Amino acid sequence: MKKNLIKKEYEERINALSYYNKKYYDNNFSEISDAEYDSLKKKILDLENKYKFLNSKNSPTQSIGYMPSKNFKKARHRVPMLSLSNAFSESDLLNFEKKISNFLSRNLSSDISYTAEPKIDGISASLYYKNGELIRGLSRGDGKEGEDITANLLTIKNIPKNIKFKDFPEEIDIRGEVFIKNSDFNNLKEKFANPRNAASGSLRQKNPQDTKKIPLRFIAYTFGFEKGLKVNNQFEYLKRLKVWGFETNPLNKLITGVKNLIKNYEEVEKYRADIDFDIDGIVYKINDFALQKRLGYVGNAPRWAIAHKFSSDKAISKILDIDIQIGRTGALTPVAKIKPINIGGVLVSNATLHNEDEINRKDIRIGDTVTVERAGDVIPHILSVDVKKRQKDSSKFIFPNKCPSCGSKTIKEYNLITKKKDAVRRCSSEGYFCEKISIEKLKHFVSKEAFNIDGFGKKIVENFWKLNLIKFPQDIFKLDYKKIEKLEGWGNLSVKNLKYSIDEKKKISLERFIFSLGIRHIGLENAKLLSKYFESFSQFKNLSKNKDYKELLNIDGIGETQVNSLKIFFSNKTNISVLNELGKIVLIKNAAIEKTDGLLKKKTFLVTGKLNGISRAEVKSLIEENSGVTVSSVSKKLNYLIVGDKPTKRKVENARELEIQIIDQNQFLKMLNKRS
Ligand code: IVH
Repeated sequence: MKKNLIKKEYEERINALSYYNKKYYDNNFSEISDAEYDSLKKKILDLENKYKFLNSKNSPTQSIGYMPSKNFKKARHRVPMLSLSNAFSESDLLNFEKKISNFLSRNLSSDISYTAEPKIDGISASLYYKNGELIRGLSRGDGKEGEDITANLLTIKNIPKNIKFKDFPEEIDIRGEVFIKNSDFNNLKEKFANPRNAASGSLRQKNPQDTKKIPLRFIAYTFGFEKGLKVNNQFEYLKRLKVWGFETNPLNKLITGVKNLIKNYEEVEKYRADIDFDIDGIVYKINDFALQKRLGYVGNAPRWAIAHKFSSDKAISKILDIDIQIGRTGALTPVAKIKPINIGGVLVSNATLHNEDEINRKDIRIGDTVTVERAGDVIPHILSVDVKKRQKDSSKFIFPNKCPSCGSKTIKEYNLITKKKDAVRRCSSEGYFCEKISIEKLKHFVSKEAFNIDGFGKKIVENFWKLNLIKFPQDIFKLDYKKIEKLEGWGNLSVKNLKYSIDEKKKISLERFIFSLGIRHIGLENAKLLSKYFESFSQFKNLSKNKDYKELLNIDGIGETQVNSLKIFFSNKTNISVLNELGKIVLIKNAAIEKTDGLLKKKTFLVTGKLNGISRAEVKSLIEENSGVTVSSVSKKLNYLIVGDKPTKRKVENARELEIQIIDQNQFLKMLNKRS
């Protein structure tokens, strides 16, 4: 790769990191998970290691985090608050010990003692004591300069304000972590994404009275500046902290040798879900202060300490219960409710169990200790069960043979393609008869790619269903607005808006209409094929009378599975009445005859960001109706990038680099001679 390209990539990553740091410190808000943050940081460090000419002053090796917010007075730390380098595996740890031995020029041996301190995922703070009195408390800030949050820290009950012990140093910065217990966080769930955000948000309140309302705690683990500290190792220091009245981590240990560190790590990982605070790894520190002093620092991290992080995509937890969810097509999906556990910065409390076969294959039971995986955007799932930890009286999970919602029989269908019985068990009821299925059908009907009714969210569907306001799709167009206005949370204006959104969607294309019916196996693409074939709503509906199902097999892309599904749909009386009723209220436009020389002939488009008053699906069909093509990524083949609100930065930058035309929604509509 060329030097300037490498530099560009490096700077882009540094800018992204600074942006996330700023967001985090200024707004107490993290846009990415810890795992994504760590990986971004690692990529920067890897580049620096590989190419020595890379050295930005904003690099994480040169600075720590971002500047503190301007709301608080700033103050310098007399001794900087540093960060720790990370280890992810046994080999990282062996490497860490090897480097230490080399530096100290002594044989690699297993006699190095470390403290192993489970790493609490909170916010660090530094408390300055003079003659036993708490004088000032600072946040970490950028490591060199913190924010003066004394008033807020003083509200934390377990922070000693006055210490009378003879051996307490004349002056000392006691450093540790401010956090919230998981059990206390349960009451704050609505306000914050995770305990760490809750601690950070509360600690940086302008008014200390607001901080006081939150049950913050402080756990001490290190020190900064000191005068008169008469301790010569970390474990002894932790013991003294406890005597002086500080809370320390009850899980701290003194351990010798990497093998034993690993053993301890594996044990802690197993009981992690049972601890009442979030930990994301274990911090190892060389116990002997004299050795620590000799080893010193490299960049902004000590050579004598390392954070052994837990996997960012796996964790061990316990199954509290197994819930059965029912989908739009009647599929019963088992979901494990697990003891909440932090996986890569995200608090996971549900894991999908896929289906009955999966439960049987892995013999997953309520009460089991399991390994949960959450990788990328994939829904968290159970990797394995620790059978050794199972209680003797545990019993096999019996999958319900009746639908938990409507009581109908549940069945496993025969799959025409695989020639086997499906793994999925389904409710056998006729769609709208089952409460859960009909609610899911209605959610689908109003969803973005279907009728796209603005502001008609999932919660509203559930609520209106319970209140008997909607039972079938046509009811959405006959709502009793007078009644809704009187409901809690609704008012004149919100009802007006809802009515406007619904009335606006009384016109729809045939393909979207077919899709919105939620017929099994008829997704957007198949709905498009059917719409082209039938051309009009009346011809589509006539399928129930003339029963020309075999003919449909001539459509390229439609197979037996889809035809069978249409047969079932049209043989259901409720579905026919829904079609009849909707036909009376909604204007269903005939399918447009495909143009090959439309206004956007041979032009390719990509949308990024949120558009105003028009959905992506609608833009896509406008493009296709006018002989254009939509693509999914920025490449040389792209002609126009349509940019909306909050676009993906990278897409815009790439388009600029490739000199692709960047247009907004109005410019796009003008190309079609439409006004915005
Ligand atoms: S010692 C020079 N000990 O981890 C050593 N840090 O990445 C500096 N943390 O900012 C820190 N538990 O917020 C230390 N027992 C522990 C810790 C701990 C959690 C956090 C702390 C620090 C970060 C370093």
